[in-house]
Amino acid sequence: MCNKLILRAALLSGAAMLMACSLKSVSFSKDVQPILSKNCSECHAAGKPGFEASGLDTTNYASLMKGGKFGPLVKPGDAFTSALNMLVEGRAHPSIRMPHGKEKLPAADIETLKNWVNQGAKND
Ligand code: HEC
Repeated sequence: MCNKLILRAALLSGAAMLMACSLKSVSFSKDVQPILSKNCSECHAAGKPGFEASGLDTTNYASLMKGGKFGPLVKPGDAFTSALNMLVEGRAHPSIRMPHGKEKLPAADIETLKNWVNQGAKND
């Protein structure tokens, strides 16, 4: 499947697609959900302060994709403009960097979230 993509990449704009092929494919259940459970769900679950304040529940795929009271925070295929990535990368205002009031996520986790969104934010 990647071979076909590389062929097409030669015809289209090569570099971006070649890079996409060399990335490990990120799984929601195996890679993303554990990061959210560990770093977000203590506050972003029903009855918890993050959920009360923002309406965001990070405990499952459907509620994550629904987002909070400001709307969806995951834009499939576009980590650059997804609020989820902006917040954990510290690209939003420092006062709302997530996890709220805690250490920034490890670089590897930030990268995993970014790749997951850029690969289409699939529920797999
Ligand atoms: C210690 C509690 C806590 C943790 C942990 C936490 N949050 Fe939050 N989060 C909050 C609170 C409280 C708000 C409400 C906005 C505020 O007061 O800054 C919020 C707001 C948000 C918002 C809405 C931002 C907006 O536009 O106002 C998003 C998105 C969000 N959190 C994502 C996350 C993600 C992703 C994680 C895990 C990486 C995370 N949060 C971890 C407490 C937390």
